[in-house]
Amino acid sequence: MSDGYWRRRPFAPVPSTRLIGIDELVPPAARAFTFGAGPNAFRMFIVRSISGELRGYLNLCPHASLTLDRDSGEFLTPDRDAIFCRQHCAIFSMLDGRCFSGACEGEYLHPIELALIDGWVCIGSRPNDPPESGGAAI
Ligand code: FES
Repeated sequence: MSDGYWRRRPFAPVPSTRLIGIDELVPPAARAFTFGAGPNAFRMFIVRSISGELRGYLNLCPHASLTLDRDSGEFLTPDRDAIFCRQHCAIFSMLDGRCFSGACEGEYLHPIELALIDGWVCIGSRPNDPPESGGAAI
């Protein structure tokens, strides 16, 4: 469940913003997205687990508020079944963003709602908003 924190950040994308075609994300996979520019740019990433489940998170580690990938575009552990912070090696669940190993154990990544609309992975609506036309919340 989203905490809505991401919506209050500069350059936060609006619901239904297209991110990537689902067919381009062959699981397990992760992909980074940036909206805006400069130090306040909105940085996020999505992951697709081996079983095909999609999740989105702010690219902001709860340990030291740094990007997880160090601008490498790499977010997954070597076995590609969890999220890895390349700053200080914390490991997070793909499905709920909980850190289960490392410096911020028990803390969570900030989730971002996603929706699948006409084959596109898109920014989703708030949990209590009506579903997007033609879209399905993920
Ligand atoms: S910033 Fe991610 S583990 Fe330290």
